[in-house]
Amino acid sequence: MSSDQKKRIAEIRAQALDLTDTIKTLSELGEFRVRFLGRKSELTSILRSLKDLPEEERREVGKAANTLYREIEEALDFREKSLESMPSELTLDVTRPGIRPRIGAAHPTTKILESFEEVFTSMGFEVVEGPEVETDYYNFEALNIPKGHPARDMWDTFYLESPEAIQDKAQSSELRAQGEKERLLLRTHTSPVQVRVMEQRKPPIRIIVPGRVYRHENEDATHSAMFYQVEGLLVDEGITFAHLKATLMYAFRLILGEDRIFRFRPSFFPFTEPSAEVDVRCEYCEGTGCETCRGKGWLELLGAGMVHPNVLKKVGYDPDTVSGFAFGAGPDRIAMKKYGFTDIRMLYKNDLRFLSQFI
Ligand code: DAH
Repeated sequence: MSSDQKKRIAEIRAQALDLTDTIKTLSELGEFRVRFLGRKSELTSILRSLKDLPEEERREVGKAANTLYREIEEALDFREKSLESMPSELTLDVTRPGIRPRIGAAHPTTKILESFEEVFTSMGFEVVEGPEVETDYYNFEALNIPKGHPARDMWDTFYLESPEAIQDKAQSSELRAQGEKERLLLRTHTSPVQVRVMEQRKPPIRIIVPGRVYRHENEDATHSAMFYQVEGLLVDEGITFAHLKATLMYAFRLILGEDRIFRFRPSFFPFTEPSAEVDVRCEYCEGTGCETCRGKGWLELLGAGMVHPNVLKKVGYDPDTVSGFAFGAGPDRIAMKKYGFTDIRMLYKNDLRFLSQFI
């Protein structure tokens, strides 16, 4: 009797443990559990009949049967866990609480840049990029900002080469002047790309240039040493300030909202004449002055103007036959206005609690 039962236990063991890996669903697993461990299972009846065995056999058979019971239980628990973690439709349990999918969100500046691209490409502008490491020539000189010109102070520049290094490299004064033009820096604005494109092509030109720019600034809520700009340039025959105004108003109503009110204010940039700054009326106070607009009633949006004849001449264009307009806008600041936050540094902190709001 006892050796019979030990043999049966060994057989049940082989059968049960071999089969656990073939279980495919949680309901199959339930049936299996009933079959091998349930009240009517063979193993249970062996355990139940232990009391009828002589003392010695009882201990032996009892130990083997209990061990097997635990082994099967463990194997089934293990299988259950692996079935639960298996992303199979076979294990789909519609009553389980769902897992909320994480949805990516575009960076607020990216969203503004995308709306610029959408609006301007719809008007026939092409999106062009240029290098972030520029030369003195493209960043300043070709834009009508010669060396020593006080307007250079408008841009606090990160130079990548010291003036001494440039002087040392050059033997003659001619080479020195050449070296100074080629002195490397981090571009302080996207305007140099205007020059690069005009050098390569003939009018008509219609481009926008999104990109990063760098300034040697103390960072605070409204200043960052690295930020974005979008440059615009249109050159053709007979372009006037009216084209500039109509294009910008059309574009910015689409980007910021149909009902926004804009104003053009005279300004100065070395590479445009005349120059203007465009403001948008503060939407919080509607022009009466509040904290957001620092009491001014207006928020600065961009710089713009008619391309200076000197800039056109530098790239070999004849200012008597072609003219153009240009503008430079700050998408970071536009994002701040559009989404209503007041610290530009939030854009560059990579704090997901902030960034994931802009879906
Ligand atoms: N480059 C200027 C800046 O960084 C912005 C600007 C003003 C660009 C007028 C232009 C322009 O193209 O016409 O401050």
